[in-house]
Amino acid sequence: MTATPDTVRLDLGPRSYDILVGDGVLADSGERIAAITRGRAPIVVTDANVGPLHLDTLNAAMVGAGIAPSPAITLPAGEKTKDFGHFQALMDGILGRGIERSTVLLALGGGVIGDITGFAAASALRGIDFIQVPTTLLSQVDSSVGGKTGINSPHGKNLIGAFHQPRLVIADTATLDTLPRREVLAGYAEVVKYGLIRLPGFFAWLEENGHRVVDGDSAARRHAVTVSCRAKADIVGVDERESGDRALLNLGHTFGHALEAATGFGQTLLHGEGVAIGMVMAFDLSVRLGLCPAEDARRARAHLAAVGLPVRAADVAGVEWDVDGLLRSMAKDKKVLDGRITFILAEGIGKAFTRRDVDADAVRAVLADSVTPA
Ligand SMILES: NC(=O)c1ccc[n+]([C@@H]2O[C@H](COP(=O)([O-])OP(=O)(O)OC[C@H]3O[C@@H](n4cnc5c(N)ncnc54)[C@H](O)[C@@H]3O)[C@@H](O)[C@H]2O)c1
Ligand SMILES: [Zn+2]
Repeated sequence: MTATPDTVRLDLGPRSYDILVGDGVLADSGERIAAITRGRAPIVVTDANVGPLHLDTLNAAMVGAGIAPSPAITLPAGEKTKDFGHFQALMDGILGRGIERSTVLLALGGGVIGDITGFAAASALRGIDFIQVPTTLLSQVDSSVGGKTGINSPHGKNLIGAFHQPRLVIADTATLDTLPRREVLAGYAEVVKYGLIRLPGFFAWLEENGHRVVDGDSAARRHAVTVSCRAKADIVGVDERESGDRALLNLGHTFGHALEAATGFGQTLLHGEGVAIGMVMAFDLSVRLGLCPAEDARRARAHLAAVGLPVRAADVAGVEWDVDGLLRSMAKDKKVLDGRITFILAEGIGKAFTRRDVDADAVRAVLADSVTPA
């Protein structure tokens, strides 16, 4: 356990906030929580997996700061929880406690809990404060930072939501010790993403140390989460609403989402696994278009494969891929503008950029290659 966390500041004027990163920071965070809740209990929202593992630590921290915790609201674990039915139940649970504008919500869990709780905070009384306590690697390095909140619709993922920034993020890397390895790896894909987008030195560090991050080395995890949060905070700080640079964070995601959609957004292919394959496709596409040296694409693919992530669609067991279906799905992505798909491409490792006019034949070739066993 470390007493002093790394602190990453996300600068957004009056909506600025700190992201605390470290091994054991949750246990020491009572005073920081109390400062936001004015000494009152936040309404804690968690899921059925995370509550039994980490709620006691949170409650003990609050008690240590003079807060008398109230019972948590526990939602079922998993992506299906991010729907209207559970959102309604959550809102009823929150409003049923007789809340005021000063009531604070606290999301204890992965991206599912963070997204739905953030959206509840954005919606309740037209907006109340909330705190993120992310407990998956994906949520620590990505979803808890930046203020995108929301739920899914039968029409697609994350189509209903709001920008609503948290007041504080507490990323305790010790909580990752209970996370299944497959989930750790899925989150690790988003860590690699920051290196591939704009931090070539960090990518080189990951090539050396990535296995430590995955295997649970506490110092390596702290470094990886801190650098990732700083990278995301820097991007969101200049482009909160995704009119420019924030789109770079979608590297691999247009391809990845199509793969996820084809497999039903479930356990067949986790989001981060889709992103890993998608980032390899984005680099492959960049090479085919003559924009990126083949060696950089090789390094990206080699590193992702070395830690155990899938790097081609054909790596996903038991799926019959349909290239035309994937292309149609990509054309329906949220990132489509005026009917044209925005691709995130790269001139090399750490040099990502957006491009809207991409040769459809090249995209088809990349997909066809990925679905074909190596
Ligand atoms: N808001 C954003 O900017 C943003 C960005 C990326 C992803 N997302 C969203 O995040 C969601 C995915 O998040 P996720 O990968 O964290 O999924 P998740 O919240 O479903 O968590 C994955 C699984 O791990 C379990 N779990 C969580 N913490 C644990 C722990 N410490 N120990 C043991 N088990 C634990 C959960 O119960 C769940 O079963 C998606 O809905 C995605 O749309 C949002
Ligand atoms: Zn992602």
